[in-house]
Amino acid sequence: MSRIRVLRDAAAVAKEAAEFIALYVKSKPDARVLVATGNTPVPTYEALAQLNPDMSDTWAVQLDEYLIPDDDPRLLYAWMARAYLTPLGVTQVLRFDLSSQDTQRMCRLHADKISALGGIDLAILGLGPNGHLGFNEPPSGADAPTRAVTLSQASLASNAAYWSAAPHGSRAAPRNAVTVGMDIILKADTILLLVTGQHKRDILARTLSETPNPELPSSYLRDTNLVVITDQDVTGGAA
Ligand code: PGA
Repeated sequence: MSRIRVLRDAAAVAKEAAEFIALYVKSKPDARVLVATGNTPVPTYEALAQLNPDMSDTWAVQLDEYLIPDDDPRLLYAWMARAYLTPLGVTQVLRFDLSSQDTQRMCRLHADKISALGGIDLAILGLGPNGHLGFNEPPSGADAPTRAVTLSQASLASNAAYWSAAPHGSRAAPRNAVTVGMDIILKADTILLLVTGQHKRDILARTLSETPNPELPSSYLRDTNLVVITDQDVTGGAA
């Protein structure tokens, strides 16, 4: 089942998404939340912090991470801490353990820990420019596991924007990463997909209309309990 809410701008998306998350957590105070970074969800996390929900019993599960040294400022975990954990007072965290040299083992451990927690209740996702979810790059089927990946050119280009401005200077986007697999994402109880900006319009339209296929990983979301909140009207009429 999927529901789509089309709102007038990114601020309205952030407000409604924050209210959705706050309500979800109120009804399930120990929710296991899969947390996306990237630019899209940041205003939502800011709006959520304004609502001051009690998130102290929730779990934050890291969606993806670059394979870079643990003190590199580009770590997605550092972004997640700044944008989500600290402002929302979330202290129960499952993160990729970068101290492991064996990436296969690192990924297996992350997936095992998620499964030991009981899986994901609420997945908060952005939409990649190529339909990736986390770093499940095309092609990724519905059963793609948690694993190490090489970023596609499209993802490198969009990620480069994160690190080209101050205070990071002109650092390139890392090429190698790990991601929670499609198999875990698609089993989440509820998936909240946030999509803002004209540049995401076509990929959102394809996500909602194409028969699920590995060349467009986001197309598999249509078979999940999906809530899309967007400022792009791809339905032919605003809600
Ligand atoms: P963005 O990234 O939110 O920065 O657009 C989304 C993604 O690539 O998954």
